[in-house]
Amino acid sequence: MKSLVLWSSRTGNTKAIAEAVYEALPDEKDIFEEGRQPSVDGYDLIFVGFWGFRRGADFTARRTIESLHGKKVAIFATAGTYPDSQAARDYLDNAAALLPEDSECLGTFISQGRVHSFHIGKRSEHAKLVHPMTPDRLARLQEAEKHPNEDDFRRAGEWAVSMAEKAQA
Ligand SMILES: Cc1cc2nc3c(=O)[nH]c(=O)nc-3n(C[C@H](O)[C@H](O)[C@H](O)COP(=O)(O)O)c2cc1C
Repeated sequence: MKSLVLWSSRTGNTKAIAEAVYEALPDEKDIFEEGRQPSVDGYDLIFVGFWGFRRGADFTARRTIESLHGKKVAIFATAGTYPDSQAARDYLDNAAALLPEDSECLGTFISQGRVHSFHIGKRSEHAKLVHPMTPDRLARLQEAEKHPNEDDFRRAGEWAVSMAEKAQA
């Protein structure tokens, strides 16, 4: 059983979750930033991570997911939105829908992740216009500041182990 963990990350949240996934996995395993992996040949299970962007995966991860032919795949993500929200489910579903038909999505995982632009107090004019600040949005962004945390890393690790077991079943 050989697993490959691929991540795409702009500010480190998804990379940190990818490392928790990697650490928890048994057996043979490798980890690479998306685009830097030599080849996906020879791996029994591919973990692919993205950061939430425009109702789905960031564009690097979209290309990675689309390229995974004939593979068992487990998809993980971080996003500013709450992990139990419909938006989070939509991000994961939209990402999984990009998989080629000859691949299989074994499962998904998402954690909230601090939003860098909010943290540094720079929201783009576009963001201010399209997503005006409301009390709900502010609460969501303030909660996102606390993630990913140790509990998220633990849950990501447990999920990774369950995905590896599923791939072997
Ligand atoms: C340009 C940009 C757009 C984003 N769009 C969304 C979004 O549509 N929905 C969301 O939940 N989070 C959004 N986020 C927040 C990121 O998905 C979140 O902070 C994520 O954890 C960043 O992961 P990273 O640290 O691995 O880059 C956006 C962040 C940036 C910088």
